[in-house]
Amino acid sequence: MTCTLLVLISGNGSNLQAIIDAIATRQLDATITAVISNKADAYGLQRAQAAGIDTVVVEHKAYANRTEFDTALLKTMQSFAADYVVLAGFMRILGTELVAAYNGRMLNIHPSLLPKYPGLNTHQRALDAGDAEHGCSIHFVSADLDGGPVIAQARVPIAAGDTAESLAAKVHTEEHRLYPAVLQQLAQGRLRYHDGQIQHDGQDH
Ligand code: GRF
Repeated sequence: MTCTLLVLISGNGSNLQAIIDAIATRQLDATITAVISNKADAYGLQRAQAAGIDTVVVEHKAYANRTEFDTALLKTMQSFAADYVVLAGFMRILGTELVAAYNGRMLNIHPSLLPKYPGLNTHQRALDAGDAEHGCSIHFVSADLDGGPVIAQARVPIAAGDTAESLAAKVHTEEHRLYPAVLQQLAQGRLRYHDGQIQHDGQDH
C-alpha cells in the first residue's frame, strides 16, 4: 500500500528531509505531492526542490488576518490531492475550519512529551522543570494547540550538562526516526483514526 502526503513547513525542514530520505530508501511507501511553506526563505523549500517536489509559498504576512490566511492556505492545500497532511515544523496556528477539513488526516510533530509543554521553548521548559526525560510526540491535529490525540512518542534522557541546544539535537534525532515510521504505519493501513479513537493494528489505543 502507498499513500500521498502534503507537507507543511516554516523553516529548516530536517523532518521533511527525513521523510524524503525514507521514501528514497523505500522505508516509507509514500509520495509527497507538494511542500507548502508560510515563509519564502524556509530552507526546507530548497530540500523539496532538490528532491523534485513541487513547492508553494503562502506567506501569512501577505494576509490581513488569520482567517484570510487560513482561507488562502486551505485553497492551496486542496489543490493537491493528499491522503494525509504532515505538519513538519509548521509554526502557524491553524483555524478550526481548516483543521476540520482534515479531521483525522492531519498530523503534527511536537518537541515534548505531550501533554507536557504545548507551545514554544519546550527544551528549556523541560530543563527548568528539572525533568529526567524529554522527547517528542506525533499527534493528530485538533482545534486545541498541540492537543490532539497522541499517536506515538520517543523519549530521551536529560543529562546533567544538557542545554536547550543539546537537548534539541537529541530530540531531533528521535523525530527523524519516528515521523517516517508513523507515516509508514499510516501508509500500510496499520494505523487509523476512527470516531476520535486511534487504532493500531485493529486495537484501540
Ligand atoms: C521540530 O523540532 C518539530 O518538533 C517542531 O519544529 C521543529 C522543526 O524542525 N514542530 P525542522 O524544520 O523539521 O528541522
